[in-house]
This record gives sequence, structure tokens and C-alpha cells, in this order.
Amino acid sequence: MKLGLRKVVFPVAGLGTRFLPATKVVPKELLPIVDRPLIQWAVDEAVAAGADTLIFVINRNKRAIADHFDVAYELEDTLVRREKHELLQVARSVLPAGVETVYVVQQQALGLGHAVLCARSVVGDDDFGVILPDDFIFDRNTPALAQMVQVQARVGGCVVAVEPVEPQLTSRYGIIDGKATEEQLIRVSSIVEKPKPEEAPSNLGVVGRYILPARVFELLAETTPGAGGEIQLTDAIAALIAEQPVHGYRFNGRRFDCGNKLGFVEATVAMALEDPDTAASLRQSLPGLLSAS
Ligand code: UTP
Repeated sequence: MKLGLRKVVFPVAGLGTRFLPATKVVPKELLPIVDRPLIQWAVDEAVAAGADTLIFVINRNKRAIADHFDVAYELEDTLVRREKHELLQVARSVLPAGVETVYVVQQQALGLGHAVLCARSVVGDDDFGVILPDDFIFDRNTPALAQMVQVQARVGGCVVAVEPVEPQLTSRYGIIDGKATEEQLIRVSSIVEKPKPEEAPSNLGVVGRYILPARVFELLAETTPGAGGEIQLTDAIAALIAEQPVHGYRFNGRRFDCGNKLGFVEATVAMALEDPDTAASLRQSLPGLLSAS
């Protein structure tokens, strides 16, 4: 039996309105950070954490995500005939052998909690991971979800990624309260979705990585619309606290909120500075770009 986290859910059925008009036709998750779409970075992170079943919660405008992970026969055939072996390898590397993709449809964008609930019948009784691809996290050593798998193997229960957020921005996040049990670990005593700064219990915001027990599906099924009229994952996690340990984990690595333009551009520059094809030239051109603006 394979140990670790086998199933990871990618809720990608949101509307992506903050990137219009780019996202009118192209799913936000296919916008590239350098040469890899956001969803590809997320899938690579899930696979690095041990996942072999990737569950995408999509809607009718997100079908191109399935195309991205499908075999592109025509392209591959052309690359074979032209003997472009390296490019062929790149085209084929979107999904490692033995990794399965499953697509489920969220018919109405009723919220993140509802999107996760849509994956219930595929996940079954196992613990599972959730990655929000627009929360892009980069760590040179161990990707964030793999770090969380190691933590969860020790402490059990539910583990959510957290990081300090600007006090005035608490109303964009689920905010936790709790007690530090280790340098990077907080035992969560309460969690609240999108509190006003004056009502936030701390400055630790939940970002898009979760390891959840299957029990959360039962709690989600009972969850009524919360903040913003949406079915919130945070509310189901709040109910879980009474039943089993819930920990906030302060991950190693840099997070970029690629759901907004600034975070997306910052991630692009940061990754271009990591990419051997672009790093040296970009370092040279950046000062000129800055002084020209
Ligand atoms: P966001 O709040 O970033 O919303 O959703 P969005 O629709 O993607 O983008 P904007 O705000 O309109 O620009 C957080 C995550 O939850 C998913 C989104 O796809 C994203 O990964 N989500 C949200 C769903 O899958 N279904 C929903 O009903 C809501």
C-alpha cells in the first residue's frame, strides 16, 4: 500500500473576475508563470507530496484544463517527426506515469466549501489534500504540501497552511486563533472567515493548502451559506475543531497571491529570476525597466 497523501483536490470552478478580460475565455489557472500554467505548478506540488489521483473541480468554462493534461497526439507526432526530443519530453511531462486525473463539475459557483464537497464521491473515506492553484507557493527544497504531509504524519487530524497577513487585509482570509505548540505549528482553537480587522482573532491567515479528513464532507453537507453568501470551507473546519486536532502550519517558502494582478506579476518576476533561461538577462534588464518607469 502506498503511504502519504494520495488524493488532491483542485477547486478551480471560480469565475476569475479579477483577471478579466484575460479570463473571459482562458481559465485563470492556465495563465502561465513564466512557461508553466498555474495549474501545472499546483499539480507538480501535489505529485511531490505523493498524490496519484488529482481531482479537478471545474465548470463549463474550465474544460481547457482537461485538455492541458490530455495527450496532444498531433503535437507529439509532429515533434517526433521533427526529432525535437527535448520539446517532446516537455510536452509529455505535464503528468507523470501512474498519476490519474478526474474531473467533477460544480454546476454553480456556490463557494469554495461547496466546490470541495463536489469531490466527495471521488475522495471517499481517505484524508485528502486541497490546493488552490492561485495561491502560488515556492520553496526551493520541499514544496508546501509535502511539508504539510510530514507535519500531518506526526500530529494527525487536519492541517491548514497559514501565514501572517497585513492587519488591514484580514477580511480577505480565514483567520485562526490558537496556541503555538512548535515553532511553525499552532493548535487551532477557532477559525473565522473574512473578519474585519477589529474582529480578527490574530493576523494568521489560512492560505490555499489544506490536508483534510473525509469527515469534513459530512460537515460541509450541513454547512449553510456564510461570509459572502457562499458555502465556506472555513465554516466546516470550524466545526471540525470540536472533534479532532486542527493545526495551522507556517510553511517554509514564499507565497504569491496570483488571484490578483500584483501577486501574479511578482510571482512571474520571482520565477523568471529562478529560471536559468531568463535569470541572468532579467537581472540585467530589471534596473533599466525600473528607472524607465
Ligand atoms: P476566489 O475567491 O479566488 O474566486 O476563489 P475566483 O472566482 O477564482 O476569482 P475572482 O475573485 O472572481 O477573481 C478561491 C478558489 O476557490 C475556487 C476558485 O476557483 C479558486 O481556486 N472556487 C471558488 C470554486 O472552485 N468554486 C466556487 O464556487 C468558488
